Amino acid sequence: KRVLVLNGPNLNLLGTREPGTYGAETLKDIEALCHVAAEELGLSLDFRQSNYEGELVTWIQDARKTADGILINPAAYSHTSVAIHDALRAVNLPVAEVHLTNIHQREAFRHHSYVSSVAFGVICGFGTLGYRLALMALADKLK
Ligand code: DQA
Repeated sequence: KRVLVLNGPNLNLLGTREPGTYGAETLKDIEALCHVAAEELGLSLDFRQSNYEGELVTWIQDARKTADGILINPAAYSHTSVAIHDALRAVNLPVAEVHLTNIHQREAFRHHSYVSSVAFGVICGFGTLGYRLALMALADKLK
Protein backbone atom coordinates (compact mmCIF):
# COMPACT_ATOMS: atom_id res chain seq x y z
CA LYS A 1 0.00 0.00 0.00
CA ARG A 2 1.09 3.54 -0.78
CA VAL A 3 1.17 6.34 1.77
CA LEU A 4 1.54 10.00 0.93
CA VAL A 5 3.35 11.85 3.74
CA LEU A 6 2.65 15.57 3.67
CA ASN A 7 4.41 18.22 5.72
CA GLY A 8 3.16 21.80 5.89
CA PRO A 9 4.81 25.20 6.18
CA ASN A 10 8.05 25.81 8.06
CA LEU A 11 8.70 22.12 8.65
CA ASN A 12 11.55 22.46 6.14
CA LEU A 13 13.29 24.48 8.87
CA LEU A 14 13.22 21.70 11.48
CA GLY A 15 16.58 21.36 13.19
CA THR A 16 17.16 25.10 13.32
CA ARG A 17 13.57 26.23 13.98
CA GLU A 18 12.89 26.75 17.72
CA PRO A 19 14.83 23.61 18.69
CA GLY A 20 13.60 23.99 22.29
CA THR A 21 10.09 23.35 21.00
CA TYR A 22 10.61 21.15 17.96
CA GLY A 23 13.86 19.35 18.76
CA ALA A 24 17.11 19.00 16.85
CA GLU A 25 15.98 16.54 14.19
CA THR A 26 15.63 17.79 10.64
CA LEU A 27 12.94 17.00 8.10
CA LYS A 28 15.53 14.81 6.36
CA ASP A 29 15.86 12.81 9.59
CA ILE A 30 12.07 12.41 9.71
CA GLU A 31 12.03 11.34 6.07
CA ALA A 32 14.71 8.74 6.84
CA LEU A 33 12.84 7.35 9.86
CA CYS A 34 9.64 7.19 7.81
CA HIS A 35 11.42 5.16 5.13
CA VAL A 36 12.75 2.74 7.76
CA ALA A 37 9.27 2.35 9.27
CA ALA A 38 7.61 2.00 5.85
CA GLU A 39 10.06 -0.72 4.89
CA GLU A 40 9.25 -2.64 8.09
CA LEU A 41 5.52 -2.20 7.52
CA GLY A 42 5.57 -3.04 3.82
CA LEU A 43 4.38 0.43 2.76
CA SER A 44 5.66 2.51 -0.12
CA LEU A 45 6.15 6.18 0.68
CA ASP A 46 5.95 9.50 -1.09
CA PHE A 47 7.36 12.10 1.34
CA ARG A 48 6.78 15.80 0.65
CA GLN A 49 6.85 19.27 2.22
CA SER A 50 5.38 22.54 1.03
CA ASN A 51 5.05 26.06 2.36
CA TYR A 52 2.09 26.65 0.02
CA GLU A 53 -1.48 25.81 0.97
CA GLY A 54 -2.60 25.42 -2.65
CA GLU A 55 0.25 23.04 -3.44
CA LEU A 56 -0.75 20.85 -0.49
CA VAL A 57 -4.38 20.94 -1.72
CA THR A 58 -3.29 19.84 -5.21
CA TRP A 59 -1.14 17.03 -3.81
CA ILE A 60 -4.09 15.83 -1.69
CA GLN A 61 -6.33 15.85 -4.77
CA ASP A 62 -3.74 13.92 -6.79
CA ALA A 63 -3.56 11.31 -4.03
CA ARG A 64 -6.88 9.93 -5.27
CA LYS A 65 -4.87 8.25 -8.03
CA THR A 66 -1.52 7.71 -6.36
CA ALA A 67 -2.03 6.80 -2.70
CA ASP A 68 -4.03 4.51 -0.42
CA GLY A 69 -3.66 6.67 2.69
CA ILE A 70 -2.30 10.01 3.85
CA LEU A 71 -0.13 10.97 6.81
CA ILE A 72 -0.21 14.72 7.26
CA ASN A 73 1.47 17.20 9.56
CA PRO A 74 -0.37 20.29 8.32
CA ALA A 75 1.71 22.52 10.63
CA ALA A 76 0.19 26.02 10.92
CA TYR A 77 -2.45 25.21 8.29
CA SER A 78 -3.98 22.80 10.81
CA HIS A 79 -5.38 25.80 12.59
CA THR A 80 -6.50 27.84 9.58
CA SER A 81 -7.18 25.79 6.49
CA VAL A 82 -10.72 24.97 5.46
CA ALA A 83 -9.24 24.25 2.00
CA ILE A 84 -7.05 21.41 3.31
CA HIS A 85 -9.98 20.10 5.36
CA ASP A 86 -12.17 20.08 2.24
CA ALA A 87 -9.51 18.44 0.05
CA LEU A 88 -8.96 15.66 2.60
CA ARG A 89 -12.70 15.13 2.86
CA ALA A 90 -13.03 15.03 -0.94
CA VAL A 91 -10.40 12.35 -1.55
CA ASN A 92 -11.95 9.95 0.91
CA LEU A 93 -8.69 8.22 1.89
CA PRO A 94 -7.74 7.33 5.47
CA VAL A 95 -5.89 10.26 7.02
CA ALA A 96 -3.58 10.18 10.05
CA GLU A 97 -2.74 13.61 11.51
CA VAL A 98 0.59 14.15 13.24
CA HIS A 99 2.05 17.01 15.26
CA LEU A 100 5.49 16.89 16.79
CA THR A 101 4.40 18.97 19.75
CA ASN A 102 1.42 18.62 22.07
CA ILE A 103 -0.71 21.34 20.48
CA HIS A 104 -3.11 21.25 23.45
CA GLN A 105 -0.36 22.33 25.79
CA ARG A 106 0.55 25.34 23.65
CA GLU A 107 -1.13 28.64 22.70
CA ALA A 108 -4.94 28.58 22.48
CA PHE A 109 -4.81 29.21 18.71
CA ARG A 110 -3.18 25.80 18.27
CA HIS A 111 -5.83 23.89 20.19
CA HIS A 112 -8.19 23.49 17.25
CA SER A 113 -7.25 21.66 14.05
CA TYR A 114 -9.47 21.72 10.96
CA VAL A 115 -7.85 18.46 9.92
CA SER A 116 -8.74 16.40 13.00
CA SER A 117 -12.41 15.97 12.03
CA VAL A 118 -11.38 14.33 8.74
CA ALA A 119 -8.61 12.17 10.23
CA PHE A 120 -9.22 8.69 11.64
CA GLY A 121 -6.64 9.45 14.33
CA VAL A 122 -4.44 12.22 15.65
CA ILE A 123 -1.03 11.90 17.26
CA CYS A 124 0.60 14.84 18.98
CA GLY A 125 3.35 15.47 21.48
CA PHE A 126 5.55 12.45 20.78
CA GLY A 127 8.01 14.24 18.54
CA THR A 128 9.28 12.41 15.48
CA LEU A 129 8.08 9.09 16.95
CA GLY A 130 4.59 10.30 16.02
CA TYR A 131 5.38 9.74 12.35
CA ARG A 132 6.30 6.11 13.00
CA LEU A 133 3.18 5.59 15.13
CA ALA A 134 0.99 7.11 12.43
CA LEU A 135 2.55 4.87 9.77
CA MET A 136 1.84 1.87 12.00
CA ALA A 137 -1.78 2.98 12.33
CA LEU A 138 -2.09 3.48 8.55
CA ALA A 139 -0.55 0.08 7.82
CA ASP A 140 -3.07 -1.47 10.19
CA LYS A 141 -5.95 0.48 8.65
CA LEU A 142 -4.95 -0.47 5.09
CA LYS A 143 -4.38 -4.18 5.62
C1 DQA B 1 3.06 21.53 14.43
C2 DQA B 1 2.25 22.36 15.43
C3 DQA B 1 1.65 23.59 14.76
O1 DQA B 1 0.90 24.35 15.68
C4 DQA B 1 2.77 24.47 14.21
O2 DQA B 1 2.21 25.55 13.49
C5 DQA B 1 3.75 23.72 13.39
C6 DQA B 1 4.13 22.37 13.75
C7 DQA B 1 3.79 20.37 15.13
O3 DQA B 1 4.25 19.48 14.42
O4 DQA B 1 3.92 20.35 16.36
O5 DQA B 1 4.32 24.29 12.44
O6 DQA B 1 2.18 20.97 13.46
